[in-house]
Amino acid sequence: MMGAVVAIDGPSASGKGTLAKKIAAKLGFAHLDTGSLYRFVALKTLENNLDETAPEKVIALARAVHQQLVQEGLSILDTDAIRTEEVSVMTSKTSAIPGVREILRDIQLGFAANPRRHDGSSAKGAVIDGRDIGTVICPLAEAKLFVTASTEERARRRHAELRDRGLPDSYEAILKDMQERDERDRNRPVSPTIPATDAFVLDTTDMTRDAALEKALQILLEKGLE
Ligand code: DC
Repeated sequence: MMGAVVAIDGPSASGKGTLAKKIAAKLGFAHLDTGSLYRFVALKTLENNLDETAPEKVIALARAVHQQLVQEGLSILDTDAIRTEEVSVMTSKTSAIPGVREILRDIQLGFAANPRRHDGSSAKGAVIDGRDIGTVICPLAEAKLFVTASTEERARRRHAELRDRGLPDSYEAILKDMQERDERDRNRPVSPTIPATDAFVLDTTDMTRDAALEKALQILLEKGLE
């Protein structure tokens, strides 16, 4: 039987990843950052000198990633190599390929049915964050949050995060990149980044991380999750 699923969607740097991790810790659920699946495929795409204009080859890479995940587990995703701006830009292109989404969907459904932490231990529920978890992957999720913030605020957060990691980039360049990626993610024909009709939209533009967590936990409590 499928355990409880908390679906957390939203654009990049909205704070959904941090929030998802904290919610998972609080509920004792396993967490899956689905962006890291798409990022891993994009990393392989770059390593193989391919791009989104060769969709069949990218789909073959996604299949190989699927195999590797089944054999080695989710810990292969724990690498900083998938967090560079170059990978971010490629991910927003390769994640729009329907065949790639279909293959990665299988992994996400497997996780929802049998949630496991990266150390392999099983959990009673799953917190899954991404773009289409509440709309496409788990439309019957027990709770759905759509976490968002203004583009300027998200660019400011990404700028601060990159600076802290010693990878400075100009705010203007990050903002421009983010606007382009948002545009692609929101307007693509498959799985556009839009809230499910039954999702709670949490706008964190003027919220601290703690306040956002408190609000999210309050919504989950109302859904019977604590
Ligand atoms: O959340 P993130 O910044 O790691 O996402 C990176 C890219 O992957 C972004 O362009 C959207 C895409 N993505 C997606 O299409 N579907 C998901 N479920 C998760 C991420």
